[in-house]
Amino acid sequence: MAALNQPFTLPCGETLNNRMAKAALTERLADPSHLPNEKHLKLYETWAKGGAGMLLSGNILIDERYLEAAGNVVAHALSPEDPFKKWTKTVTDTNTHFWAQLNHAGRQSTIFSTLKPVSASDVKLKKAGMFAKPRPLTEPEIEDVIQRFVNTATFCRRVGFTGIQFHAAHGYLLSQFLSPKTNLRTDKWGGMITNRARLLLTIVERTRKAVGNEFPISVKLNSADFLRGGFEEDDALFVIRELTKRGVDLLEISGGTYEEVTFFSKKGIKQSTKEREAYFLDFAKAVRAEGDIPIMVTGGFRTLAFCNKVLEDKELDIVGFGRPFLLHDDFAAGFLDGSLAKVDDPIIKSPLKMYQDFAVAGYYDKQIERIAEGKKIDLNYSATMATLRMTKNEFWKGLKNKINM
Ligand SMILES: Cc1cc2nc3c(=O)[nH]c(=O)nc-3n(C[C@H](O)[C@H](O)[C@H](O)COP(=O)(O)O)c2cc1C
Repeated sequence: MAALNQPFTLPCGETLNNRMAKAALTERLADPSHLPNEKHLKLYETWAKGGAGMLLSGNILIDERYLEAAGNVVAHALSPEDPFKKWTKTVTDTNTHFWAQLNHAGRQSTIFSTLKPVSASDVKLKKAGMFAKPRPLTEPEIEDVIQRFVNTATFCRRVGFTGIQFHAAHGYLLSQFLSPKTNLRTDKWGGMITNRARLLLTIVERTRKAVGNEFPISVKLNSADFLRGGFEEDDALFVIRELTKRGVDLLEISGGTYEEVTFFSKKGIKQSTKEREAYFLDFAKAVRAEGDIPIMVTGGFRTLAFCNKVLEDKELDIVGFGRPFLLHDDFAAGFLDGSLAKVDDPIIKSPLKMYQDFAVAGYYDKQIERIAEGKKIDLNYSATMATLRMTKNEFWKGLKNKINM
């Protein structure tokens, strides 16, 4: 049996059918109620049929005031359960693990979502004029954030998700606390890495108590944020040692923030890693040397042969794929039965350099919508349309959210 097809048992005792996971891909499909709808069901039903051992949801926000995107799903202790139960059933009925990725956008909430974002400190994100200056969270508000993460995790278990993941990567709130560039606090939540990691570690500890020892808990963490004076590999290794002690079942390694979007490309990454297909493998090696936390690496995996090789060499335990699920209609099934050897990345070039990241996001966002509507992927979708789509969607949906608030 090929390495990718072999099952994997997590420390909590749950088994994934194979080593392929769909990484989180924000769906942006919810209306102002922020609940999963028919499109979410169709999208995940299609992905589940592909046979990957585990699907992560796109980020589910724990607080509707600080969204990552206007069409986010939001879940909290009092959310209606039925729409979520229908959603999880589409996946779990196929005997596939379905984990909820939980997030708080912090300062990476656009002006269409909030003009008053919050963060560890008041360091503004400068990107295309899309983000307002955040204010630092007060201590009672930090306690509220912790409780919201725990409540949402418990809610997710109740409505049928078979695991959860905390999004502590890519520059969102948990990662804003971890990074010395965005966390300038002088209280117990800032300064040394022991303090900067306190928020994430407290959330993990309290969630473990709330959901029990048999429920998978994962964390998505940056190996580094690739910014001078930012979160570095030594910081990340400290956090990983602490997460291991707290019984985290799967560490997903990624990298970058909105300022340096390393999770989309190899920019800023070491030469030795650049020469290989995937992005964060050098760092995975360093994590392996530290202890026995199961490792998922996401970013850049495109050929079946390479995926099998890194698994055979035990460089990692689970291979995470994001964009391949949006570039080939039968990607997962093809890799698992060996009929597909490779997925090619398209060239997406925005007419305005400043909006390049929006063009890329819009291109993939369009594919998500197409799958959710039961259509085939359209690789010829234009970069100009993709750029317009992102700005228009965020603006109109953001406005609708405000009217409904
Ligand atoms: C359209 C799109 C949406 C994404 N949404 C999320 C998200 O909600 N949460 C997250 O952790 N990463 C998100 N990512 C990043 C992916 O999970 C993944 O880390 C990245 O795409 C690199 O992997 P790949 O080379 O296999 O695509 C997103 C990526 C894309 C393309």
